[in-house]
Amino acid sequence: MVLSHAASDSDVSVHSTFASRYVRTSLPRFRMPENSIPKEAAYQIINDELMLDGNPRLNLASFVTTWMEPECDKLIMASINKNYVDMDEYPVTTELQNRCVNMIAHLFNAPLGETETAVGVGTVGSSEAIMLAGLAFKRKWQNKRRAEGKPFDKPNIVTGANVQVCWEKFARYFEVELKEVKLREGYYVMDPEQAVEMVDENTICVAAILGSTLNGEFEDVKLLNDLLVLKNKETGLDIPIHVDAASGGFIAPFLYPELEWDFRLPQVKSINVSGHKYGLVYAGIGWVVWRNKEDLPDELIFHINYLGADQPTFTLNFSKGNVLRHFSITISSSLQNL
Ligand SMILES: Cc1ncc(COP(=O)(O)O)c(C=O)c1O
Repeated sequence: MVLSHAASDSDVSVHSTFASRYVRTSLPRFRMPENSIPKEAAYQIINDELMLDGNPRLNLASFVTTWMEPECDKLIMASINKNYVDMDEYPVTTELQNRCVNMIAHLFNAPLGETETAVGVGTVGSSEAIMLAGLAFKRKWQNKRRAEGKPFDKPNIVTGANVQVCWEKFARYFEVELKEVKLREGYYVMDPEQAVEMVDENTICVAAILGSTLNGEFEDVKLLNDLLVLKNKETGLDIPIHVDAASGGFIAPFLYPELEWDFRLPQVKSINVSGHKYGLVYAGIGWVVWRNKEDLPDELIFHINYLGADQPTFTLNFSKGNVLRHFSITISSSLQNL
C-alpha cells in the first residue's frame, strides 16, 4: 500500500499482549522504537498481528490461488536468499528462467528455428509483463516515426473498455493515450471491427485479451488479426497486436489447441501470461515473450557489467528474490494442465 493512514489517539502503540514478558513498555506504531527488543518478542508481536488477516486458502476474490505442492515450497525456501539480478552468481537459476521462457514461447507457437532461443523474461506478474511489452511497442513505433521524419509525440493504444487496470496504468505512467472500444449490452469484450476502425498512424498496438477479467471470455484475436492485415494493406500502416493472456494463456493451448490466438497469427508480436492464475501457484510470477528479437528494441535492454560478466536485462526492478519459483511454477502449471 503506498498511502498509509495517520495515527489516531487510540492506536499510536502496538499491542504486545503475548510478548509482554519481553516488552515492558508499549511500542510506537508509526515510529522507530528508541530501544531494540528481543527477536522472539518481535516475532510474537508481528505473528499475532498477522493472525487478523483473512485466511488465504478461503480467498477466492483475486482468483490467484494460495496453495502449492510441498516440493515447490521446499524449492522456494532453498532459493529465497538468492538475488536473481546477479546472473553470474546464480547461473542455474538464470538457466531455469530461460527454459521457462522457451517452453512458453514454444507453447504459444513462436516461429523459432530448431536451435533458436526465445526472447522473453520472467516478471512479477502480468502487470509488469504488460509494462515491458507496451514499452517495446512504444519505442518501436517512435523509432519508425523518427526515421520517417514524422511526429512521434502522440502515441495511442487501442483496447476494449474491459481491459484490466494495468493497461490504464501503462497508459498513464508511460504517456500513451488509451483508446477504448466501448462495450455494449450483451457484448462485453472488445469488438475487433470497432478496434480496427479506431487504429491510426499513432497506434502503437492493439491489445486483445484472452480471458477477460470481467467474465473470462476470450476476445476474437484471429478476426482482429485478419482485419488488421487488411487495414495495414490498405493504409500502409503496420499495426501489431499484443495478447494479454494473463488468465487464458495456460488454458487455451490445452483445452482449445485449434484456436488461433497466438504467434500463429502474423500480427501478434508479444504475449503476456501470469503464472499465478491457474491454481497451485502463489502470487508473484508472470512472463512476457516476444515473437522475434526484432520486436524488442535493443536500446531497452540494459547491459549490466558490474556484477561480473555482461548481463542483459529488461525488467522494471533490479534486485529480485525467490526465483526458483520460476521453476516450481512451471511444474505446478504443467501439473494443473495434465
Ligand atoms: C486480463 C488481465 N490482464 C492483466 C492482469 C494483471 O495480472 P497480474 O495480477 O499478474 O499483474 C489481470 C489480473 O487479473 C488480468 O485479468
